[in-house]
Amino acid sequence: MSETLNKGTYYITTPIYYPSSNLHIGHTYCTVMTDAMARFKRLSGYDVHFLTGTDEHGQKIQKKADEAGVTPQAFVDQVVEGIKELWAKMEISYDDFIRTTEPRHIKRVQEIFKKMYEKGDIYKSVYEGLYCTDCEAFWTESQLEDGKCPDCGRPVEKAQEEAYFFRLSEYGDKLLNLYDEHPEFLQPDTRRNEMKAFINQGLEDLCISRTSFDWGIPVPIDEKHVIYVWLDALSNYITALGYPDDPELYNKYWPADVHLVGKEIVRFHSIIWPAMLMSIEEPLPKQVLGHGWLLIDGGKMSKSKGNVVDPVVLIDRYGIDALKYFLLREYTFGQDGVFTNEVMLKRMNFDLANDLGNLVSRTVSMIEKYCNGVIPKAYTEDDIDKELKSIAISAPEKVEAQMDKFAFNMALEEIWILVCRANKYVDEKEPWALAKDESKSDELETCMHNLAECLRIIGILIYPFMHTTTDRIWEQIGITDEVRWEDASKFDMLDGQKVNKGPVLFPRLDIEKELEALEELQKK
Ligand code: MSP
Repeated sequence: MSETLNKGTYYITTPIYYPSSNLHIGHTYCTVMTDAMARFKRLSGYDVHFLTGTDEHGQKIQKKADEAGVTPQAFVDQVVEGIKELWAKMEISYDDFIRTTEPRHIKRVQEIFKKMYEKGDIYKSVYEGLYCTDCEAFWTESQLEDGKCPDCGRPVEKAQEEAYFFRLSEYGDKLLNLYDEHPEFLQPDTRRNEMKAFINQGLEDLCISRTSFDWGIPVPIDEKHVIYVWLDALSNYITALGYPDDPELYNKYWPADVHLVGKEIVRFHSIIWPAMLMSIEEPLPKQVLGHGWLLIDGGKMSKSKGNVVDPVVLIDRYGIDALKYFLLREYTFGQDGVFTNEVMLKRMNFDLANDLGNLVSRTVSMIEKYCNGVIPKAYTEDDIDKELKSIAISAPEKVEAQMDKFAFNMALEEIWILVCRANKYVDEKEPWALAKDESKSDELETCMHNLAECLRIIGILIYPFMHTTTDRIWEQIGITDEVRWEDASKFDMLDGQKVNKGPVLFPRLDIEKELEALEELQKK
């Protein structure tokens, strides 16, 4: 990271995932985007704090643990270990991982509850819902399936229990003001308008405790209640920073620059969360950004439907960078996208094996063959050289502009404009022909120099998205320096470095064969 730039702090978060089962490619998608943004911001000079974690309480987890015949704690411990392994395998660069079962979170959530209670924003009343006696679970009308319990399919009946409520209804106007005064808080406009419409229908107070199960944080003023999901979960973004008792990190990084979340939980993050923060009189996050879903066969992936794609299978077969590239390049932020093995394999073949892999391997081979493996100086400059150079040094700015909009796919597209231009440059320059004519040796060396410079720049530009590929490219062109974003807009930094031809970056895949293999692997 560049120490010299120091652009200030940048706090970015993923949702905290339910450790009810292993994570699938949909969850991976959100974390991969967050990681790319965190890496990009670090590289461009920000002091980044990247938080992720797990949301471990609630009835669903308790039930799963019962079914597995273990305690809820033992159950989540084992799933969380798998989640941490997945992130380690993917080299996700988080700075902190919060588990809602950690003492640091529990005591701080209780403090937050107390503050809201003392403010007069929490009161005790009666929760009415549709109850399944068998599952000991309350459901809302919309959660039922064919009017029956979505878990066991048995009939439900109206029931009541004592519960604590948060006066969310008091915050409608304040939230509407927030959206008007800070339209950037919730983007895109359509999503903000949906939230406004939702609030305008009238907000109901929010039930924030339960007595019908006990796998949760005890309500500090009434221990027979546990705090119900969202108050517990949303608080993670500040409890992880030490709020309220150890405010060093909190003062440094709060308010968050962005909470990246899936579209179905934007509502909780843009209504309940700011209202909670208003209640405890703390600053609000600067932005909540909702991404779309990865769909499979037109539907959402779910463990119960048995149509989840396991990221580990894909990483083991194609490597982390190929998978990350695909996720970031294929889908448009904010929109749903369909996941298929075929689309993924084609991207890997065309963009990675053909375009990038080929550029690296032919450039290094030619420098070995024509220049004794040493990157030469540039001696001449014609219009084609000038064009290549100008595309290269203007690329970082274009990538930045796309990243400012969270348009990961467009940022990569900008980089691939350079990759493709460099490949076309080889075809236009025909170095093999230049090599045959001694009078063209200056031109040949310029050509090799320019291609090596392009590889260096591409290596920097792809770093936030696929950092292990950067390392592998740099190794081949003999660079050992740290990656500095500002060096991407400079040309002529290489001179005299020795290249080292390495293994193929991305092997070309036999798509038919891979499709069959994946089908087998994904059945397991
Ligand atoms: N625990 C809550 C979040 C609390 S945040 C204070 C939760 N957990 S979750 O595990 O169900 O989902 C976590 C995130 O994964 C959500 O943002 C959700 O949108 C995302 N995804 C789950 N399936 C997905 C896809 N198929 N595609 C893209 N994202 C998906 O909600």
